[in-house]
Amino acid sequence: MATEEQMKQQTKQRAKQQIDARRRILDEDVERVLIDQAQLRQRLNELGAAINAEYAGKDLLLVAVLKGSVLFLADLMRHIAIPHEIDFMATSSYGAGVQSSGVVRILKDLNKPIEDRHVLIVEDIIDSGNTLSYLTGMLAARKPASLEIVTLLDKPDRREVDIRVAWTGFSIPNEFVVGYGLDYDECYRNLPYIGILKPEIYAQSDAGNPME
Ligand code: IMP
Ligand code: MG
Repeated sequence: MATEEQMKQQTKQRAKQQIDARRRILDEDVERVLIDQAQLRQRLNELGAAINAEYAGKDLLLVAVLKGSVLFLADLMRHIAIPHEIDFMATSSYGAGVQSSGVVRILKDLNKPIEDRHVLIVEDIIDSGNTLSYLTGMLAARKPASLEIVTLLDKPDRREVDIRVAWTGFSIPNEFVVGYGLDYDECYRNLPYIGILKPEIYAQSDAGNPME
């Protein structure tokens, strides 16, 4: 007869197996892993160290751009040892399959003024640069003590406007990526790595090809 403790363990194990099985369904849509968990951890460690050094003794505010950068922000914060606050902005981004234009809509603004504060924008990926170009212009007008950008990913080949980025996690080729916060049609954000989707996923989806 199984003890109560053993039964609890079995229930837990079954739940974990179910989650793993569902995760595999998402994994199957990924053609290849571009950046794995170990690479992410290592690079975040380095970025955290650079930020610690740069902002020691300063009033640091991390501004994350929703929703893609939430996983990056959460992990990056754990590598930042100095005191800091966080705040969020949301902009209209790629609707599924629609490329970002120069026009950016603010869906959520910051909760507090940023005058005289050291603001570090935390972004998931810079593609055309349009979103960040607009955001930095808007935030600079509020007179922060400094305004910098840390982005997890950069696709330099796709740049349409010049953007000065203080720290980049990884420069990547011109491919549409998902995982670690990044989505295709709001899916795949929970993959713990950065991957490239199989082309047939776009072909099957009403959302279409995100690079067109
Ligand atoms: P930009 O204004 O063209 O620089 O667009 C930046 C935004 O587009 C990012 O913050 C993402 O939300 C989205 N984006 C660009 N490339 C990708 C990608 O490869 N995968 C997922 N989202 C992307
Ligand atoms: Mg984004």
